[in-house]
Amino acid sequence: MIYCFSLNAYEYAYTYAYAFRTTSKGSSVNGRSRSTARHVSQTSDPAVTNAVIETTTTATATSPAFENFDYEEHWYPCVWEEDVESDVPTKVTIFDVDYVVSKTPSGDVVAMKDYCTHKGAALSEGRMTAKGYFQCAYHGWSFDGSTGDCVEIPQIVFQTKKDGDGNDAHQLQSATIPSRACANTAVPAQIHQGMVWLFPGGGLEKALLAPPPPSVPEDLFTNHSNDLKMTTAVRDMPIDFSILLSNICDPDHGLFAHQSTNFDMYTASLDCGFESFVSEETDGGKGWTLRTKIDAKDKMLELDRSLRETTKAKSKPKSKKSDKGKQKPESPWATFRFYAPSHVRMNRVNKETGETKFASLFYVCPVGVGRSRFMSATLSGFKIPRWLIAPNLNNFLDQDTYLLATQQRRLLAQEADGLRAAMKEKKIDDRNDAERIKGLALKTRTKNFTLPSPTDKISARLEQFWDATLTRCPNRAKHLLNLDESGAFLQTPSREFVLDRKTQSLDISKDSRDVVRNCKRTKRVSRVIAIALALGKVARTVTTKTAATSRTTPPLAFVKFVFKTSFLAPALTCLFLAFSLAAKLEREYYFKYTDKYRRADMKKIPEKIWLDK
Ligand code: FES
Ligand SMILES: [Fe+2]
Repeated sequence: MIYCFSLNAYEYAYTYAYAFRTTSKGSSVNGRSRSTARHVSQTSDPAVTNAVIETTTTATATSPAFENFDYEEHWYPCVWEEDVESDVPTKVTIFDVDYVVSKTPSGDVVAMKDYCTHKGAALSEGRMTAKGYFQCAYHGWSFDGSTGDCVEIPQIVFQTKKDGDGNDAHQLQSATIPSRACANTAVPAQIHQGMVWLFPGGGLEKALLAPPPPSVPEDLFTNHSNDLKMTTAVRDMPIDFSILLSNICDPDHGLFAHQSTNFDMYTASLDCGFESFVSEETDGGKGWTLRTKIDAKDKMLELDRSLRETTKAKSKPKSKKSDKGKQKPESPWATFRFYAPSHVRMNRVNKETGETKFASLFYVCPVGVGRSRFMSATLSGFKIPRWLIAPNLNNFLDQDTYLLATQQRRLLAQEADGLRAAMKEKKIDDRNDAERIKGLALKTRTKNFTLPSPTDKISARLEQFWDATLTRCPNRAKHLLNLDESGAFLQTPSREFVLDRKTQSLDISKDSRDVVRNCKRTKRVSRVIAIALALGKVARTVTTKTAATSRTTPPLAFVKFVFKTSFLAPALTCLFLAFSLAAKLEREYYFKYTDKYRRADMKKIPEKIWLDK
């Protein structure tokens, strides 16, 4: 059951196997310098080193190693490659700046800041030309995404001359394009292992010197790689990227927020601590990773329970009938790695062979203060339709996203307070003074969180990282303070807003939109046929009675058959079922997780765990 798919559980890392297949498109940067980028990726990929660390027992090593972390020196995942179309511009946002992304006819990805140098309209509202240029919808200016240059202004780009025969000849008059129209708004972009990555921190030269996007080692699934297919998922969330990543790196919450016992293998306990816990710089000091390894057996459910419930044998987990007589296989290592600032990978590794059997991959795009894009991938023996993944992902994420929203309101307000105090102390009056604000370190999380659980060792380290580095996020200080002053953190937004699947998932996934369209169509067609049949039956009954008295022509055999009760009843039942199923499926793509659902989930906690027994 390596790659099982269960409707109940998008229990991400903790249940499923998630991974990428490395693609040959790996490292094309803006359609240029592919070989250079590839070279960087291969020589400095920390994943290669990690594969070795995971299979050996290592001593615990800890060093702060993030004092100089610079968010502007990193690539950011922003959209799955399969969600980018070559004829439609796609809008993405990183650190509160909008970008427009598309594919060129040659398959490379290009990106620009999402505004037109004419009058500032968003290029993402426009279209892609046949040549692969972004064309503004307002007055039709076109831009080359690989350079950012304006390449065509319809109103002035042609001039008319007479050719040798005295006929009108139209010639390109590129010299008339003003230099201000070419504002160098292109952003380095590449497709790496199925994901589009942007480098908003500078030009191509700087991008090629930056740590490459984290890679899944190509030999990770050596035994399976020919059979596995990747299914990706995405959801936009009104949650800050730091809070969402801390949530992903916190397996202790699985038993409660998700009522799932599958998380327990990644937790630590008093009796079973981390085998290794490594926090270190990578990529010549530009990157930071946190890596841990632990025995992948149940801790809260078994080890801790045995300590606190020695006399309550009845509350021990029930062994399945099928388990009787079987020797339990040795638990693998559960490994966890956070690659700052946006990637988390969790694997399960065979203790003897070192072979990785499971990998769980998460990518979080820092859309802006209080906003992020969650992206993950599943790997299975068959292609799981994305439209099926989406409702499961949504059910899973709904369970704790609102909790994160309640946490976020307090946390971002505290961060704003801490920032204001630190700016005052350093006499920084201008919230746009990014250079000086970068030097401030906050204590928002370290001061306000209490982290005593053995697993919290991860959280404690990660929260230190956020405290030390978040002031260096581009645009964060000014947006955070503006939001705080606008009252955005005075109360938690409504459940309907925080968990709005339509805008967060349906609107950004073509597969889901297709399913919803088909659901609506199925509902419409089944309703029309059912009404027609019902009306026909009534008409038929009336005409039969009339025919009996007036001796009119008997109906055709087909009509007789259709309106026979033995056909009509099952037909109407089938139509009703089709309508109900389509309606039920359609509802999955809209807001669902009401207070009623939350209360029902809360009842599962004592059933699944042990606290009330
Ligand atoms: S604003 Fe884009 S062409 Fe005018
Ligand atoms: Fe969660």
